[in-house]
Amino acid sequence: MSSTNQTHKLCMIPGPVEFHEDVLAAMSTLSTSHVSADFISIFGESIELLRKIVFTAKGQPFVVSGSGTLGWDMVASNLVEPNEDVLVLNSGYFGDSFSACIETYGGKVTQIKAPIGDKPSLQEISEILKTKSFKAITITHVDTSTGVLSDIKEIAQLVKEQSPKTLVIVDGVCSVGVEEIRMDEWGLDLVMTASQKALGVPPGLTIETFKQRKAPVTSYFASWNNWLPIMNAYEARKGMYFATPPVQLIYALNTSLKQITSVPLEKRFEQHKKMSKYVKDTIEELGLKMLPKSRDMAANGMTAVYYPAPLTAADLLPKVASNNIVIAGGLHKAIASQYFRIGHMGISVTEPDRKHLEETISALKVSLKDLGYTANL
Ligand SMILES: Cc1ncc(COP(=O)(O)O)c(C=O)c1O
Repeated sequence: MSSTNQTHKLCMIPGPVEFHEDVLAAMSTLSTSHVSADFISIFGESIELLRKIVFTAKGQPFVVSGSGTLGWDMVASNLVEPNEDVLVLNSGYFGDSFSACIETYGGKVTQIKAPIGDKPSLQEISEILKTKSFKAITITHVDTSTGVLSDIKEIAQLVKEQSPKTLVIVDGVCSVGVEEIRMDEWGLDLVMTASQKALGVPPGLTIETFKQRKAPVTSYFASWNNWLPIMNAYEARKGMYFATPPVQLIYALNTSLKQITSVPLEKRFEQHKKMSKYVKDTIEELGLKMLPKSRDMAANGMTAVYYPAPLTAADLLPKVASNNIVIAGGLHKAIASQYFRIGHMGISVTEPDRKHLEETISALKVSLKDLGYTANL
């Protein structure tokens, strides 16, 4: 089935996104040994291409099978020792989960929890950095539950000035491939992501990039001690085994990474900004309210919108689906029933001829009208 299949409802949620036909075809690669010459070259090249996505020359990519959540386990088990302090910047649901993961491995979490739709301020971060020595600070670049975008460049700069030993860790699950991330230039120590969002590959790959590791490891599958020799071997175009890699997913990743890096990344970021503006302008024209406190802190790969009263999820989501578009409900625990989310990442943005976003907006407008919402329609 291709993403243009007639019976397919467009998946316009903030991940998984719509996948390119060539990526889906790569998923159907016939069974191939993970130490065959063909696969070794595909895996090795994918590791190299990942560096380009986050502008790093020296970072070590890790490509491991698992969803984004495995990225948190990798961070917590490889970087955090029991009782070490970690500062978690919380701009929504995913800050709560990252904290819970770090605590699972014995880390002591201090959170700066922003009000819903907001992000921790530089002043708050600066104040708290004065109180103790943090092993690491984690930032959810885009919290997918609120659509709030954090300024990782500014935060990294502040941390490097005030607490240079603190590792800057970015959860880029909803931002890598959409938002600009310059790992080396901005001094980011680790950026983690997952395959199913802007990298445009079916779910199942945690992709980890790091340049520094000191702590003993408290996991087996997630241990970089086990994975580093594997990454080094494949990059040197040699096969090596620790645990079987997801061969077909890596073929798909390779296809997507080649597509993404075939145009300057700056162009890709601009396309996402432009399409995000189109969606957000339309939402505002319709008189609907967005979750992020202001447009300058709103993500470019998704839009979170409050239902106009008296409409609810049970009204709007099935109605939009009946118009062949799938959008997502709310996720932030405190207000989950009050808003919906539209994803605009990957080919839906970079290949405008597909008209995914026009179709989404049109389905939204028709659905609102059918449900009796007439303001500004
Ligand atoms: C910002 C962020 N971090 C982490 C995750 C967890 O990733 P996964 O659901 O792939 O395990 C998600 C999932 O949507 C996310 O949006």
